[in-house]
Amino acid sequence: MSRRRSAAEAFEKVPTQVFANSAEAAKELAAEVRKLIETKNKAGKPAVLGMATGSTPVPFYRELIRLHKEEGMSFKNVITFNLDEYYGLNADHPESYARFMADQLFDHIDIPKKNIHIPKGTVPSDQVFAHCREYEEAIDTAGGVDLQILGIGRTGHIGFNEPGSSKESLTRRITLDRITRQDAASDFRGEENVPHFAITMGVGTILRAKKLVLMAWGENKAGIVAKAVEGPVTEAISASFLQDHPDARFFIDAGASRELTRFKLPWLVGPVNWTPRETQRAVCWQSAQMSRPVLKLVDEDYNEHGLSDLLSEQGPAYQLNIRIFNRLQHTITGWPGGKPDADDTYRPERARPFPKRCLVFSPEPQDGVIAIGGTIDRLREQGHDVQVVSLTSGSLRVADSEADKFASTLLELGATAADSAQWKEQTEYARELVRLIEEKGEFGEDPPVLRRLKALILRGELRDAAAAVGLGTDKVVFLDLPFYEKGRYRRFRSSEEDVATVAALLREWKPHQIYLTGDAADPSSVPSICFKVIETALKQCEGEEWIGSCTNWLYRGKEKAFEPHEIDMAVPLSPNQMERKLRALTRYQSLSSLELQTPDLNRAAAAQYDSLGLAEYEAMECFQRWRRV
Ligand code: F6R
Repeated sequence: MSRRRSAAEAFEKVPTQVFANSAEAAKELAAEVRKLIETKNKAGKPAVLGMATGSTPVPFYRELIRLHKEEGMSFKNVITFNLDEYYGLNADHPESYARFMADQLFDHIDIPKKNIHIPKGTVPSDQVFAHCREYEEAIDTAGGVDLQILGIGRTGHIGFNEPGSSKESLTRRITLDRITRQDAASDFRGEENVPHFAITMGVGTILRAKKLVLMAWGENKAGIVAKAVEGPVTEAISASFLQDHPDARFFIDAGASRELTRFKLPWLVGPVNWTPRETQRAVCWQSAQMSRPVLKLVDEDYNEHGLSDLLSEQGPAYQLNIRIFNRLQHTITGWPGGKPDADDTYRPERARPFPKRCLVFSPEPQDGVIAIGGTIDRLREQGHDVQVVSLTSGSLRVADSEADKFASTLLELGATAADSAQWKEQTEYARELVRLIEEKGEFGEDPPVLRRLKALILRGELRDAAAAVGLGTDKVVFLDLPFYEKGRYRRFRSSEEDVATVAALLREWKPHQIYLTGDAADPSSVPSICFKVIETALKQCEGEEWIGSCTNWLYRGKEKAFEPHEIDMAVPLSPNQMERKLRALTRYQSLSSLELQTPDLNRAAAAQYDSLGLAEYEAMECFQRWRRV
């Protein structure tokens, strides 16, 4: 590692490079791999690469394929070893890592099949130990891994080395952590279908690589990345062992870097440009540190916590506190669409025009109502024209058991009807659906008709949920964007067709307000892809009359709430409204309770405002203003 580390990186115990986005990082890493292959091949040796699967390496593999196809980069003299494989899955199972690697990389480059190594998910139990030993030996025979690519799980795992894996552990069969299985639930259409076991290289195996690069994207990974980079080396987070390796690096994007000290508490590592946002961040942090409301902070509090600089620029504490308190106060509004005929100088949303046309973009049918059902409720109640736009069908999320329930009910209804002959065709249709579900088995691909049924189930649930917050069925639009219909989780790719669909809707609606999410999410996730589609569609509408006066509000889903300094609008929910929102969430019967955790976040947001010294509400839905660049 030749790059000099700056003072800002003082807390980081492993070199960490932050890129503007995953594509930039992928480009740099792919260029490095190209150099490595060339150098090794010049020396008459193969390059040995350690490969990872999951969403993270996808942009990197796309760049390798591009280098191969457009710039003639060859993989003829490359040997690969994959980190892991689900135990119990055949190599041709759609979710096996063998299949993933074929689809995402190997089928598109010139690597000889014999050079590819992936643990086998189907070795009989009594042969697992021998298989793992052979895998270790094969790595050594190849001369060891030159460069190991890694992702990181939310448990901090590398490979599938879940918490508790020792530094010396070798390739073996392991039990997957609950969180890991939950994270894979959408791939397998339900947590219950996710394998319980996997074969993985051990931490010891991984650390034998000469160089390692761990990649992480999106704010969902920010917490675990910070622990792995700045925390103690511990078996509880196997990625932390990278700190002990002489040539390990983290390549992360802005979202995944958010919890690193240099971004989260920049005043601890150097001079800060005290923008209003940074100032608010420091004051809110100080208040949380002292467990004291903003207005009770004193000069000494700031001085003793590395904030004397801020104080000398913007103090004394009393003045600073009042300024920030007022700013926080002004974010709170029960009028998310603007309060008509009121002075809106300090309100987050302008009063006019009234009523407004509001578009709530929901990446999957559940996201919008779950995240901001209370705000939808308020907007509607205050006379605005609210339209919820479900961008994708969400059909891949619905478990077979749900589809089976609907198809079986339909079948029974037809078969037991007094005039059953009249329902013969429908009954046959239902019988066919039940048969298809059975025939495709636990892990099979859904035939189109089954996907359609699953999409309709979620449609019905969204309509019900929207009704619970007062929206009629005509206020819910389903776009079923093609990228989702053609893809699988972690491997989606949007196209011009998706953008055109959203642009057409925007032009038809000419909204005054847009609510959207996904700006800081993992780039391969549905919210992130949808965000980019909307962003591109908005760019296409640039210059049209309506767009200049359209305000855009970002919201967050179940994963990560905004911090107080990031909030531009906080919409309080009364206990009654919260109850209505909870009722709306019960309509999503086909989803696991894990999808429905936002009420906790809404309550936590209100508690946070309360502890900063502002009014105490039951719950809050929070938003950040998004200015298109
Ligand atoms: C994959 C692997 C795992 C993943 C990790 C992150 O081969 O070994 O450690 O890298 O679970 O997964 P994604 O990239 O899907 O977030």
